[in-house]
Amino acid sequence: MKKRFLSVLLCSCLAAASLAACSSGASSSATTAAPQTTAAQGETTKKAEETTGKAADTSGEKLVVGFAQIGQESGWRDAETLSIQTYASENADKVELLFADAQQKQENQIKAIKNFIEQGVDVIGLAPVVETGWDQVFAEAQEAGIPIILLDRRADVSEDLYATFIGSDFIEEGKMAAKEMAKLIGEEGKIVELEGTVGASAATDRKTGFDDEIKASFPNIEIIASQTGDFTRAQGKEVMESFLKSNKDIKGVYAHNDDMALGAIEAIKEAGLKPGEDIKIVSIDGVRAIFEAMAAGEANCTVECNPLLGPLLFETAAKLKAGESVEKWVKSVDGVFTSDMAAEVLPNRKY
Ligand code: AHR
Repeated sequence: MKKRFLSVLLCSCLAAASLAACSSGASSSATTAAPQTTAAQGETTKKAEETTGKAADTSGEKLVVGFAQIGQESGWRDAETLSIQTYASENADKVELLFADAQQKQENQIKAIKNFIEQGVDVIGLAPVVETGWDQVFAEAQEAGIPIILLDRRADVSEDLYATFIGSDFIEEGKMAAKEMAKLIGEEGKIVELEGTVGASAATDRKTGFDDEIKASFPNIEIIASQTGDFTRAQGKEVMESFLKSNKDIKGVYAHNDDMALGAIEAIKEAGLKPGEDIKIVSIDGVRAIFEAMAAGEANCTVECNPLLGPLLFETAAKLKAGESVEKWVKSVDGVFTSDMAAEVLPNRKY
């Protein structure tokens, strides 16, 4: 760690900068409150993390990582936060986490990064809420000699401004979802799309992958409406309600995440239709709640996107601190789960 003011609590600094939530002070060695996540998720996340390696302690000093999280918009995001905070608290002798919850606002993430620079952390982790608008603050981090790890979402900046991206291939996820949707509806019919946060790489790429695959391979499938639900269950429900009011014969819903799919399922049921039967549901993430919906016959398919990135974040940060090189893209491997697998898979879901 280059420079750190132990007496200054990061939480107060971030609060002054309008950040609404923060769960670790610079003077403490681990994290505190995790966002609302079920006990089952906590338990299984811990188990998953126990199987991975630990961040190497090369200098005798603690590895200090500042992480600017997007917020708590989905079950997936809560699982990612818990994975990061659990790793930090279980390895408090080696690592220290400064955690900022930006409440879905880029300006709050930028303030958090500036604060981490001021605190002199070793490495900054960021899940960018949107892709653009990062050049200046990334350049400030670079000038201060602090590497940036992009976690789960990409930023549209020059490659030399960040050290690595750890996460999934969102375009590929969209393509896999399109193939599954085509199978479910017999390669023809009208479908609707619930998009994630406007400007987020996860939304842009999942749309590109899905829409391109439909256009290229399934000419009899028509995407009749596509609108953002901001990756939240509430907005997924709201948008689906309006889709149902203005469109008849919808055969399928493709949602960029499970939470929006779960909202759509509620809207479909309230409209007197059967989700999973009358309208097929395909989404991305693989959270426990969508497996429950699949087991109940109300959803059909989810493309998994691994949120348990905490261990990898710290292990990569340790390498960067030690001056080791890391790959520019540490890619997560995603699988596809269909409703016939749900009952068997459900008891072992890790998030
Ligand atoms: O960036 C990953 C996406 O962000 C997840 O699919 C979604 O649930 C989250 O909010």
